[in-house]
Amino acid sequence: MAYNLLKGKKGIIFGALNDMSIAWKVAERAHEEGAEFVLTNTPVALRLGTLKQLAEKCNAEIIPADATSVEEIEELVKKTMAKFGGKIDFILHSVAMSPNVRKGLSYDKLSYDFYHKTIEISALSFHKVLHVCRKLDAINEWGSVVALSYVAAQRTLYGYNDMADAKSLLESIARSFGYIYGRDKKIRVNTISQSPTITTAGSGVKGIDRLLDFSERMSPLGNATADDCADYCVTLFSDLTKKVTMQNLFHDGGFSSMGMSLRAMTQYDKSFRECLEEGD
Ligand SMILES: NC(=O)c1ccc[n+]([C@@H]2O[C@H](COP(=O)([O-])OP(=O)(O)OC[C@H]3O[C@@H](n4cnc5c(N)ncnc54)[C@H](O)[C@@H]3O)[C@@H](O)[C@H]2O)c1
Repeated sequence: MAYNLLKGKKGIIFGALNDMSIAWKVAERAHEEGAEFVLTNTPVALRLGTLKQLAEKCNAEIIPADATSVEEIEELVKKTMAKFGGKIDFILHSVAMSPNVRKGLSYDKLSYDFYHKTIEISALSFHKVLHVCRKLDAINEWGSVVALSYVAAQRTLYGYNDMADAKSLLESIARSFGYIYGRDKKIRVNTISQSPTITTAGSGVKGIDRLLDFSERMSPLGNATADDCADYCVTLFSDLTKKVTMQNLFHDGGFSSMGMSLRAMTQYDKSFRECLEEGD
């Protein structure tokens, strides 16, 4: 159901690769709510993914940009402002990649070249987007910028590797830039800490299927899906959340506040009994 929450609002959505991407779902929902936006991703992602289909569906223009390049972000923001004839109202940063995760190098044996890439792509790119937008005065007062994070920024989860460090930095950038942007321009900057979700990036995390099952059992409301995340993003882009800024907002069915649930304990109990029977 649509509520026209984003009628008249213009934005940029980073990171839709295919129809599993969280950014894809956000674009669909934002379109339903009346927003107009530009879609962006790297030239490689445009070749490998299916972004064109989304652009057609949402009547959106695609402007390629590598989110690690200040020059390319500048071009993107300038072209977006020219297209809409002025400033924009919202940005979704849904960008992440860890070459260490991709190559299966564990945290204690990672490659530092890859580590730099992880931080560049998954965290510094957010600073660059905010920096360019502020320099070009690209966002209207009470505009909203959202990036996607994960609870591994606060808690250690096996297999999340150097992405945990990147997410910690991402959340810190949201606070530090959120202060400056809020103070000077009344612009909100937040991160959403989303449940594990089956997407191209999500599938790269070691043991993602078991992680999904575990967090599903631990969360009183169950895992938040990509569609749920899209709904939440729409509220943060809307005028209904004008005083929310510098926050890391958990969107995880309650997982981040849990220690142990009955459903998880029941499952643990089964394997515990098996171990005892095997004499482990
Ligand atoms: N899937 C999950 O379990 C999960 C959970 C919490 C948070 N997140 C976060 O959600 C965001 C979106 O990921 P997703 O799960 O939808 O996966 P996804 O693979 O669909 O999206 C990741 C996107 O990042 C883009 N990207 C990579 N390098 C880039 C660069 N240099 N410049 C611009 N774009 C670049 C990719 O092309 C892709 O579109 C990420 O920040 C991810 O960490 C995902």
